[in-house]
Amino acid sequence: MVDPETNRLLTQVGRGTPMGELLRRYWHPIAAVTEFEETTIKPVRLLGEDLVLYRDLSGQWGLVERQCPHRRADLLYGWVEECGIRCSYHGWAFDAEGRCTSQPYEDLTRGERNRRFRESIRIAAYPVREMAGLLFAYLGPLPAPELPRWELFDYRNGFAQIVFADVPCNWLQAAENNIDPVHFEWLHDNWAARQAGRGGNVAPTHLKIDVFEWEFGFGYRRILSNTDETDPRWTQPRLHLMPNIFMPGGTHFEYRVPVDDEHTLSVVWAWEAVPLDRQPYVQTRIPHWYAPIRDEKTGRWITSHVINQDTVAWVGQGPIADRSKEHLASSDIGITMFRRRLKEDLERVARGEDPSGVIRDPEKARLVRWPDNRRAVIERGLAREEWLARRAQRRDLIAADDYFIFYAGQPESVRREYEAAMGLGAAAEPNLGAVR
Ligand code: FES
Ligand SMILES: [Fe+2]
Repeated sequence: MVDPETNRLLTQVGRGTPMGELLRRYWHPIAAVTEFEETTIKPVRLLGEDLVLYRDLSGQWGLVERQCPHRRADLLYGWVEECGIRCSYHGWAFDAEGRCTSQPYEDLTRGERNRRFRESIRIAAYPVREMAGLLFAYLGPLPAPELPRWELFDYRNGFAQIVFADVPCNWLQAAENNIDPVHFEWLHDNWAARQAGRGGNVAPTHLKIDVFEWEFGFGYRRILSNTDETDPRWTQPRLHLMPNIFMPGGTHFEYRVPVDDEHTLSVVWAWEAVPLDRQPYVQTRIPHWYAPIRDEKTGRWITSHVINQDTVAWVGQGPIADRSKEHLASSDIGITMFRRRLKEDLERVARGEDPSGVIRDPEKARLVRWPDNRRAVIERGLAREEWLARRAQRRDLIAADDYFIFYAGQPESVRREYEAAMGLGAAAEPNLGAVR
């Protein structure tokens, strides 16, 4: 339980709030590169700021405030040019650093005399970086820290996809779920069994959980009634990367990106090794899709897939969970440690230091390894027979005929790309991506 004031401290993300300043010390994923196959400008709301993300004709990314500083028109309805973005109302243009580069009427009629005025006009502009098919933004003080290349982004011979979902609640509810081991037994396994009509509380029971801190956040491991210390659930801890990233298992990330106090963008980057007979495999394009979280027919949340189930828990806590009314128990040890770390990080930022997990050394950021050697097992991939057997097991976890178990609603086009990569069914085309 925390008092209402601490709850506000932990959950407010706007500029000038302590947590808003803390969260601005990290890079956040805001879009997929493949979104820009269809568009050149995308609206983004991040940490309570309304922005537009664009790629100009020279290929440079820009992220600037959404409203034009002239008379506040919406730059989403502007257009991109060779270098920057131009407002459609009176044609003022801005570069990726937020400088006003053109004021057509004033430049023409006042010539050089307009230069000082034009140069005085700036819009908020933030750095953007591309990694693993994602676009990351940094809204904090400069110089920006390094964007870490987690080892999963470095794995070869796999197929990745990016999934977004808009979640109507505060980011911290979703992030606290990252270090909550016991919910797997109930929210996923037992509830999935109930939904499949299997009844009873059939999931293996948690007997022991262990939460540990490491440089970039936390890890937890667990022993269930049917596992021991040789099981991956113990040997390959699930990781929480500060401040808001979940890396369960070893094949996907879940980012809980704070949109504003009451909204979160869920960003999933999911990777899977192709079967050995498909290797070597090189993916040249990482597809993205948006997952619906509400069933349009019933108006209820979708409950069939893993992160849909998580979402039900997050949004059920309210737009901003009232933590003054909760009762933490022994299974919540990770939650307690995470909140303590956040408070320590708030103090670090107040002292002018970097919070935990921020990397300044480019060499260190080039490849950040997990605290165990799961890469050797996971990246290698499986022979087709074993791969098919695993897939069948995974598909039993959800009440749907999907390969993708995390979110409902995968578009047919992405499913076909996945099947083609994995060499499945009619989509099993020659492995064109294998040219290296
Ligand atoms: S409002 Fe954008 S140029 Fe006038
Ligand atoms: Fe979960």
